Amino acid sequence: MQTKYWVAPRFGDLELADIEVPAPGPGEVTIDIRAVGMNPTDFKAIAPGGDPSRLPIRIGQEIAGVIAAVGPSAGAHAVGDEVLAFRVQGGYAQRLTVPARTVFAKPPSLPFPEAANLLLAGTTAADMMRVIGVQKDDHVLVHGASGAVGVALLQLLRIAGARAIGTASATRADVVRRFGGTPVEYGSGLADRVRALAPDGVDASFDCVGTDEALDVSLELVPEPSRIVTIAASARARREGMKAVAGADPESAVFRDSQRQRLIDLAGAGDLIVPVARTFPFADAREALKVLRSGHPGGKLALII
Ligand SMILES: NC(=O)c1ccc[n+]([C@@H]2O[C@H](COP(=O)([O-])OP(=O)(O)OC[C@H]3O[C@@H](n4cnc5c(N)ncnc54)[C@H](OP(=O)(O)O)[C@@H]3O)[C@@H](O)[C@H]2O)c1
Repeated sequence: MQTKYWVAPRFGDLELADIEVPAPGPGEVTIDIRAVGMNPTDFKAIAPGGDPSRLPIRIGQEIAGVIAAVGPSAGAHAVGDEVLAFRVQGGYAQRLTVPARTVFAKPPSLPFPEAANLLLAGTTAADMMRVIGVQKDDHVLVHGASGAVGVALLQLLRIAGARAIGTASATRADVVRRFGGTPVEYGSGLADRVRALAPDGVDASFDCVGTDEALDVSLELVPEPSRIVTIAASARARREGMKAVAGADPESAVFRDSQRQRLIDLAGAGDLIVPVARTFPFADAREALKVLRSGHPGGKLALII
């Protein structure tokens, strides 16, 4: 079976190429991809200035589709099953052979673009909550609450009984409100605006942006730096006693893997929404990445096959 796939032969560039998809070996399945989930890590992985020994690079960590072939000892999967898969390598493809342990049944209620975009943001949000130890009635601040990780966080925080104030641009305040947060506009004067909304202070802060403003305001408002976590400014966080998490950290990786089925169940039941802003034909991956790189995609993006 042939597939087209996107590959970066050099940093800052993506090309469409053809390859023979290997038949699934023991513990593997082949998926006919219907939707590719898109995340900022995709363009960061091929940004100019990387280590040339990593080239060529295939990107894409999450997909949804239909099982086309099943290898020996690949569990209960069957040809024709609708599935999602995370964390895979080279998801920007029409067809991919992946380890069966990364593959989960897609809830029938979840369309392919949403399913393909559920797990990277969702497991990241769950991991941030793990390291902070959120309690019921905690008052928390979420930077980047209108983004993919931000809206997942708002929903998980609401389920945990916490109250969230979420930063967003003025045009995305409605997104924060929709997912249970109180919106506040980022930019100059942010700390005072948050104080006005939470006169008794905030107990913890979740940074999905990584700007100095987000970390400065968090340090100003949260009494204990260890109750601040970032996913986008790890070096500064570690220097100043805040927490940082990344999918490659062994502890985070194990925890995130343990959360996948829970998040799929929540999404299948309609308790965790994945807001897909735009879909693009598979051939328009470069254009879709430009929208994502803008920093204001307005929701999740997916490539459709
Ligand atoms: N460490 C990890 O494990 C991990 C995992 C996932 C993601 N990440 C990183 O986390 C970040 C967010 O990912 P995502 O998928 O949620 O991104 P996204 O969907 O593109 O969202 C970006 C968010 O940033 C906000 N924003 C943009 N410019 C801003 C500024 N100057 N000040 C304040 N907010 C600003 C946007 O708000 P408006 O649109 O309202 O302007 C939006 O809420 C990315 O850097 C990503 O690489 C890290």
